[in-house]
Amino acid sequence: TDDSFIIVAIDGGAASGKSSTSRALSERFNLLHVDTGSFYRTMTAELLRTGLAAGDEAGIAIAAQALPLETSVEGRRAQMKINGRVVPDAEIRTPEVNANVSHFAAVPQLRQALLDYQRGQAQVARDHGFRGLVMEGRDIGSVIFPDADFRFFLHADPVERARRRAAEGQTDSITERDRLDASRKTAPLACPDGATDIDSTHLTLPEVVDLLSEHLSARLGPV
Ligand code: DC
Repeated sequence: TDDSFIIVAIDGGAASGKSSTSRALSERFNLLHVDTGSFYRTMTAELLRTGLAAGDEAGIAIAAQALPLETSVEGRRAQMKINGRVVPDAEIRTPEVNANVSHFAAVPQLRQALLDYQRGQAQVARDHGFRGLVMEGRDIGSVIFPDADFRFFLHADPVERARRRAAEGQTDSITERDRLDASRKTAPLACPDGATDIDSTHLTLPEVVDLLSEHLSARLGPV
């Protein structure tokens, strides 16, 4: 095995800057970028399409475990394939998915169905010759990779996050989604024990990326 392989876990609430930061780190350090929020969104979109509703926990539990999940790597990004198809961004970043995803993500069997799939991304990264992976989500440093080489938790003031989201043209209620994500029983959104907690409210994206890069470079050497 190759012990220079590194795992970077980045958790945080909606619009905390996780995605842009993870994308930048993936480029700087040659890491596979794994956006687990896109996995939850893809499963939610697919299950909604089959007629399941957020209240039907039992139906979601059964259907989620039956979905055949594969991965394709596009550029530096891992994309979930269901039934051989990558569900495009236009279908997973809709108001309907925004309103439903936290309810679907609270179903323990759906999370369970994603557990090994998410851990398996390390092998995907190895197979594609990456130096490691950067995985972003809500429970990466706590549940998926508690032994990750680096664990960060990003947070930002809600007003600033709403501003960032609006600037991206998205209008969903991020505070309501965070409330649901932080209050669920299974793997709630929280800063994992021992993770590096970073308040990005007054930082620009390049400043956040530099800050995390310094942590990585301190252990790995400069890029
Ligand atoms: O990162 P995002 O905002 O696209 O994530 C969408 C939803 O997916 C989020 O509101 C909760 C769920 N999620 C989760 O429960 N656990 C993760 N590791 C990632 C996302």
